Amino acid sequence: MKTRITELFAIRYPIIQGGMHFVGLADLAAAVSNAGGLGIITALTQRTPELLAKEIARCREMTDQPFGVNLTFLPTFSEPPYAEYIAAIAEGGVRIVETAGRSPEQYMPALKAAGIKVIHKCTSVRHALKAERIGCDAASVDGFECGGHPGEDDVPNMILLPRAAETLKIPFVASGGMADGRSLVAALALGADGINMGTRFLATEEAPVHVNVKRAIVGASELDTRLIMRALRNTERVLNNGGVERLLEIEREKGADLKIADIYDQVAGIYPKVMVEGDVEAGAWSCGMVAGLIHDIPSVKTLIDRIVREAEQLTFERLAGMFDARR
Ligand SMILES: Cc1cc2nc3c(=O)[nH]c(=O)nc-3n(C[C@H](O)[C@H](O)[C@H](O)COP(=O)(O)O)c2cc1C
Repeated sequence: MKTRITELFAIRYPIIQGGMHFVGLADLAAAVSNAGGLGIITALTQRTPELLAKEIARCREMTDQPFGVNLTFLPTFSEPPYAEYIAAIAEGGVRIVETAGRSPEQYMPALKAAGIKVIHKCTSVRHALKAERIGCDAASVDGFECGGHPGEDDVPNMILLPRAAETLKIPFVASGGMADGRSLVAALALGADGINMGTRFLATEEAPVHVNVKRAIVGASELDTRLIMRALRNTERVLNNGGVERLLEIEREKGADLKIADIYDQVAGIYPKVMVEGDVEAGAWSCGMVAGLIHDIPSVKTLIDRIVREAEQLTFERLAGMFDARR
């Protein structure tokens, strides 16, 4: 395929695997890149910049295709050494970074000096415009349905993507709710140059997580996610479970007075319990509404090939067949 995103990142298909805490390890990133998409290693899952350098080297052993690294700027209990993570990325020869959370403005000079292309993930047109203004090469526009942090505007992709297309000059991918060939065709029709997927890639053979996580996603419907931390303006879409119900009960009791300390047990240190140990009820972990469209656990290559084949069929058979053939 050829879109502004395949050209920008020198990849075969405009399909990106978004950064995912405790999921975006070299194994998944390499599998996605080998299948023609863009795999992304999640920097902060590596506790130190040295460990990130090792993970980048491990990925390079598994693929000769381009891959990227995600740098997430979210409120954490202690500020990670971002400049050192960027140095590890640059020294590791990675030339694509997905930023997310706060604006990457402060780090743009270092990223650009290293010849890195930056795709900033954001949840509103105004943040995407800011990304364009500060020199980001592309945006990943994340709608309200997405797994993880959908922001506070609650605009779904059916509106957000065409608004982004009306406004942005830089290429952008549609993120949130993307699962199959229908999503890809719809995203392209709405003006995007490709798609970014999180939850769908979590339920693949190569995702380096406990099988209970993959089964939980296959078993979930589009009704099974919940929004947490709204009162803290740090909203996150997560899969509902026992830990999340306890958390929501605390949120209801505290109302606008909620402090992060009130829900610390349900949100801190949960990812290793879920992703490594398979205790999917332990607390809050990100998951998109798209879980309702996920019914299997294919290999990454099977998934990507299927998306592209479906998108082709949809375009040339279903859609083309709806128009007057004489045109
Ligand atoms: C388990 C999980 C962990 C995630 N962790 C991160 C993260 O650390 N940083 C980040 O920028 N996005 C993170 N995301 C968001 C994804 O990169 C992506 O933007 C999102 O999943 C897209 O929505 P979808 O799940 O509907 O595909 C995470 C998503 C999931 C499902």
